[in-house]
Amino acid sequence: MSDKGKMWVTEKDGIYWPSENMKKKAFITNPDIFEEAKENPVEFWAERARELIDWFDSDWERTNEWNPPFFKWFEGGKVNLSYNCLDRHIEDKGDKPAIIWEPEPTDEEKEVLTYTELHKGVQKFANVLKELGVGKGDAVTFWMPMIPETAMAALACQRIGAWHSIVYTAFSPEAVRKRMEDAGSDLLITADGFYRRGKVMELKNNINDALDRVEAENCIVVNRADTEPTMVEGRDHFLSDLMDGVEESCDAEPLDAEDIGFLLYTSGTTGKPKGIKHSVGGYLVQAALSMKWVFDFHEDDVFYSTADIGWITGHTYTLYGPLIHGGTTVWYEGSPDYPDLDRWWNIIEKYGATQFYTAPTALRMLIKHGRDLPEKHDLSSLRILGSVGEPIDPETWNWYFKKVGGGRCPIVDTYWQTETGGILLTSLPGLGPFVPGVAGTPLPPMNYDILDIDGNPTEKGAVVIKEPFSPGMLRGVYKNPDKYKEEYWSRYGEEIYFTGDEGIKTEHEIGGQKLFKILGRMDDVMEVAGHRLGTAEIEDAVQEVEEVAEAAVVGKPHDVKGQVPAVFTILIDGAEPSEDLKGDIVRSVRREVGPVASPGEIYFVSRLPETESGKVIRRFLRALLKDEELGDMRTANNPECLEEIADIVGYNGPQDVSGY
Ligand code: PRX
Repeated sequence: MSDKGKMWVTEKDGIYWPSENMKKKAFITNPDIFEEAKENPVEFWAERARELIDWFDSDWERTNEWNPPFFKWFEGGKVNLSYNCLDRHIEDKGDKPAIIWEPEPTDEEKEVLTYTELHKGVQKFANVLKELGVGKGDAVTFWMPMIPETAMAALACQRIGAWHSIVYTAFSPEAVRKRMEDAGSDLLITADGFYRRGKVMELKNNINDALDRVEAENCIVVNRADTEPTMVEGRDHFLSDLMDGVEESCDAEPLDAEDIGFLLYTSGTTGKPKGIKHSVGGYLVQAALSMKWVFDFHEDDVFYSTADIGWITGHTYTLYGPLIHGGTTVWYEGSPDYPDLDRWWNIIEKYGATQFYTAPTALRMLIKHGRDLPEKHDLSSLRILGSVGEPIDPETWNWYFKKVGGGRCPIVDTYWQTETGGILLTSLPGLGPFVPGVAGTPLPPMNYDILDIDGNPTEKGAVVIKEPFSPGMLRGVYKNPDKYKEEYWSRYGEEIYFTGDEGIKTEHEIGGQKLFKILGRMDDVMEVAGHRLGTAEIEDAVQEVEEVAEAAVVGKPHDVKGQVPAVFTILIDGAEPSEDLKGDIVRSVRREVGPVASPGEIYFVSRLPETESGKVIRRFLRALLKDEELGDMRTANNPECLEEIADIVGYNGPQDVSGY
């Protein structure tokens, strides 16, 4: 019998639990799993690794080695991600759709790549890379849209042990250049352009200058939009030319589980983005397990994740997760509001998606402008809804649950990070409970805690991870072990990983585990429209403007995007605030970081609150923007400046900030 339209949850006192249907279907339904997994966490992971993954050699020397804060998993085991996503499925599922690609223009046909077709394309692409001299351990930078060639290129890198470093297309060419330089990559893979909101967004022509400056050796260009970009002879090649006549077969290289699988740059607390390193084996095991358990992913499922490949969610769940399990993943090229605000609902209906995974910011936008549109579509194929990237507020949760899920589907609010490689905290579909606004429990056998400033367990405070860690955790920051220690393993010592987030242990529980509510970042990182951005990176870009003497950036609450960057600037003597200057600041941020980081607000101030040593106290700026209590203003060396700033931002909070 078809699963369409079934009830997957039941309600009790305003919270939701798996229904009998879900308990029959789901892989994990017994809450004892938490205790069982904790009995021997290392063995738990070893068993999952053997059960979920095909190894060339699973005779690793030691499952886990923990030298705080460095770990290794399955070292000596030989494995390949591309093999696990492709080769092992060919015999049984060669004709099955691996990727269904939906172009943005509605007059263009979808493209379906079967496992056999994808396998062929990936092997050829891998040979193209080899012919350009790319091999194991080489970093290849991507500035690629959501098109099938992007999936092929990533799998091709995995096949030969090259590291992809994928940069989101809404980052600027300058941001790409910096990441290429840091990774030491001399090959860029890009497209001529792609479609967004009915227009062609050019990529290749925009990045030509940056390519010249980084002295790239090669650039592979996928022709997506027939823009006929400028090509430099000898350096720039169209993919179609390179694929022509290239050798058809390329075996997947047996890589060591501890080899690097890829780099992904993410924002931290300094101006320079960090190249997060992920291992081949550990990442693969964690991606496989979380895909299966969290999304209760069965091989006939059709998974639709709206996450772009430029983010970790795009890596783990839009691309690899569904393919590891021989499932189908839906890729959509464009914008959710093109040609109308029901494009995503249309896609779910058209392809019978069984899971849908997106970010609250997009849902808030769709609620605002198209509240009732899901009802115009048959979304009865859906079984599980997912949320990621930022806390989901109860109002958005309820809309998502009722309008998109028809009140039938659990929402898995998945809390994780680029650094964790895969989901580590949520409610599992067959266990629940699903509580609006509450993320869930650590997945077995993970051990999360909430600590106060002194490192004591508390109800509300810093979210940390303690032993046992998951094999999917980052293996460091590329070329910067000190940064790795400082960012994650210094606040509470070298055995406790600090996530940077604040959270609450709620009264809800399952299997003896408390459910966690995640409140947001405690450090100088923002989540803008679900995208992670560092304040320091944007500050550096603002400082590039000649008239700017000093700048501080903090996240300002926004009803759709969650947060937008708010810029506070002090101008040099003689410079006057003006709309033109605001324009210069916005342009500089877009050029240095990208449109993704465009300031939502620019304030001209004469002073910024500082510590005695001259460090800007952003906490005060955040509180002023949120109309919150500032606390003891005397921690600033110059508290009198807060009155002016309060006035400029229209502070309406509880504290009297005058009188200094
Ligand atoms: O602040 C948390 C927030 O996103 C941060 C990680 O960002 P990034 O590395 O870009 O990865 C995003 C996708 C995994 C976290 O430190 N975050 C992520 N998921 C949630 C969340 N905040 C609340 N609830 C979530 N479900």
